[in-house]
Amino acid sequence: MTEDISKVDQIIETYGLEQKGLIPVLLDIQTEYHYLPPEAIQHVSERMNIPMIQVYQVASFYKVFSLEPRGKHIITVCMGTACHVRGSTMLVDQISRVLHVEPGETTKDMQFTLEEVNCLGACALGPVMVIDGKYYGKMTVNKIEKTLSKYTETEVVANE
Ligand code: FES
Repeated sequence: MTEDISKVDQIIETYGLEQKGLIPVLLDIQTEYHYLPPEAIQHVSERMNIPMIQVYQVASFYKVFSLEPRGKHIITVCMGTACHVRGSTMLVDQISRVLHVEPGETTKDMQFTLEEVNCLGACALGPVMVIDGKYYGKMTVNKIEKTLSKYTETEVVANE
């Protein structure tokens, strides 16, 4: 996929061309495109005069950055022990049914990426699901469709 990277120059200009601006620049690019497109990385490298390998090293070191295209909304379901025993696997199954996406994948319309993690640090609220940083505790299969509907204009309906 070739991205329109016209906003990258604007982002670079916000922070200047010095190397210390690299992480803020990458963070803004990540926010804008939901990942770091290769074209954007190359452009940052050229404009800021930082070797491409160094930009990739920073991009791969921090978990906040993704080198793969991701959805507009990130759904994270906790699969840690406390959440697992309270049914987080069923939540993932229901999300997969509703959005037609498996953990680690992004929907074809690029709206949602589904991820699993081991603990979100809110075990007492398990099972926990997080969408774009908002925590949904004591989540149930029955609440999934309604919760996802808040993030999309089109109606989400599970296949029976
Ligand atoms: S195990 Fe799910 S938040 Fe800790």
